[in-house]
Amino acid sequence: MKVKPYEQVSAIYDGLMKKLDYASWSKYILLIAKENVKDKAKFLELGAGNCKMAKLLSEEYGNYYASDISLSMLRSGDKNNLKKICCDMSLLPFKEKFDFVFSTFDSVNYILKQKSLQNLFTEVDYLLREDGIFTFDVSLEKNSLNFTTGKSTEGQHNGFNYKMISKYNKLSRIHYNNFYIWNESGLIFKEMHKEKIYPINTYFKLAEKVGLHVESCYDCFTFKDVNQKSERAQFIMRKIN
Ligand SMILES: C[S@@+](CC[C@H](N)C(=O)[O-])C[C@H]1O[C@@H](n2cnc3c(N)ncnc32)[C@H](O)[C@@H]1O
Repeated sequence: MKVKPYEQVSAIYDGLMKKLDYASWSKYILLIAKENVKDKAKFLELGAGNCKMAKLLSEEYGNYYASDISLSMLRSGDKNNLKKICCDMSLLPFKEKFDFVFSTFDSVNYILKQKSLQNLFTEVDYLLREDGIFTFDVSLEKNSLNFTTGKSTEGQHNGFNYKMISKYNKLSRIHYNNFYIWNESGLIFKEMHKEKIYPINTYFKLAEKVGLHVESCYDCFTFKDVNQKSERAQFIMRKIN
């Protein structure tokens, strides 16, 4: 049975990510926040998934909104008092303003059309208070080139078996992650995830177009400039007027 992205993957997501160090990743985002916004800053997270990062960061910044397009992902996290909003990051439904808008772990790569990416930047620019920060990471082609011949991963989590096949199409710059998930009764769910691996200049060009100032573009998890060997970039953009 074919289902939409993250509808069933939400059930195995923690298994897939078991090696991911959310504590360290959240410290990196906190360093960026502390450097750039005040202590009582209002946060908006885009593509928050099952809110692992939100749980850690909202301990420091209590005025926190976590959003994601997938209701299954938002529902699958721990029970807590987080404010969760199900929405598309390129069509944001907020009226209030934020000091810090951010996204982690490829969520922005899920925006497949350049026009929608521009909408995302326009929406965020509108929602930021003056001097506010928009920071996000993006997966780069250097990473995807490791997947041109396809790679597969298998595992078990939460009573489900899963297989993920990852493959990069260099021509279309689409990185596919196809999931097959089945339980004891044998029902198989199939999810096809697509990520667009934009040339890094696209992000600079679109930021300039909407008037967001790119303050830094780091080799992700560091504070060094992105370089030819970077597999992931961390953008820090500021609303300047
Ligand atoms: C790889 S997961 C990352 C989740 C989370 N940030 C983390 O670090 O675990 C990508 C997330 O982006 C969300 N996403 C994809 N497209 C989106 C969109 N257009 N608007 C909002 N969220 C989106 C997915 O539902 C998914 O939860």
